[in-house]
Amino acid sequence: MQLDKFAAPGRIAFRDGPLSPVAVVVSPYGSAEVSLYGGHVLSYRPVGHSPVLWLAESAKSIAPGKAIRGGIPVCWPWFGAAPRAGLPNHGFARTQIWSVVSTEYEKDTTSITLGLVPTDATRALWPHDFLLQLTVTVGPALVLTLETENTGAAPFAITEALHSYFRVRDVAGVSVMGLDGQPYFDKAPGGVDSVQSGPIAFAGEVDRIYARHSSAAIVNDPGVGRRISIEKTGSAATVVWNPAAGKGDAMADMAQGDWRRFVCVETANAGAGPIEVAPGAKHAVTATIASILLDKDGNPIKGREERIDVPSR
Ligand code: BG6
Repeated sequence: MQLDKFAAPGRIAFRDGPLSPVAVVVSPYGSAEVSLYGGHVLSYRPVGHSPVLWLAESAKSIAPGKAIRGGIPVCWPWFGAAPRAGLPNHGFARTQIWSVVSTEYEKDTTSITLGLVPTDATRALWPHDFLLQLTVTVGPALVLTLETENTGAAPFAITEALHSYFRVRDVAGVSVMGLDGQPYFDKAPGGVDSVQSGPIAFAGEVDRIYARHSSAAIVNDPGVGRRISIEKTGSAATVVWNPAAGKGDAMADMAQGDWRRFVCVETANAGAGPIEVAPGAKHAVTATIASILLDKDGNPIKGREERIDVPSR
């Protein structure tokens, strides 16, 4: 693919990645990297903050067909276990090469839109015509929009997630707020219905689908001294996951103890009925991710966004 025409000095560049080019997206407020392999956000760093996303070392030498561990995988057209045997967990979008549709920048924001269309390989897994587009915008926050369009003649149904891995100092000290009182399906003990009481803590494996949660969540990380807020639209569910030592240390694409370094708070449509997309119709889900620094008393420091000078039009 000819990428030069999508580059803009100081704003958008492309570097080599292990399986595909990686777009480097820069705005006055921060930068992000997006791999064309998987349409996968690898990193996000607001100016003056430490990295917001956790990414495994194994991402540097990812093998074809394997999903990158960390960052923000796109789980689509299904979330979780495959609808039939032999198909990949979390769908196929995260292991396909996407193309660049467009790039653009304004004074405060820089965006890239990637697209995925059917191939013989995707049709063998899921026999539908679609246009899937991911727009990643770096501004005062990181905004991801995943838009599904049904370009075929028959309806189809999807489940999905923007499976963000947030980097934390130590998961043991982290809490996730905003889900108090929400019913959830707990996969960790083998599938139990429960109700959230207070913030989510990570004293062991956490693998939960909050299937009726369409509002914001906050990752509170006193270790790094910040909160990460995840606001969303078009998402009926939030998934919260950390594998803890037992499963985490057994995962081939993570180093020992890596499980301590992240929590996943996923902007999803899963756990309840799937999203039906009629021929010609579109469905969009948006996640807005912001990093908020805390003072020594744990209170948000307001009005402290830092900026850098970048080329403008
Ligand atoms: C989470 C699921 O979203 O993703 C977990 O709730 C799963 O059950 C995790 O283990 C990671 O999945 P994968 O396919 O990337 O190993």
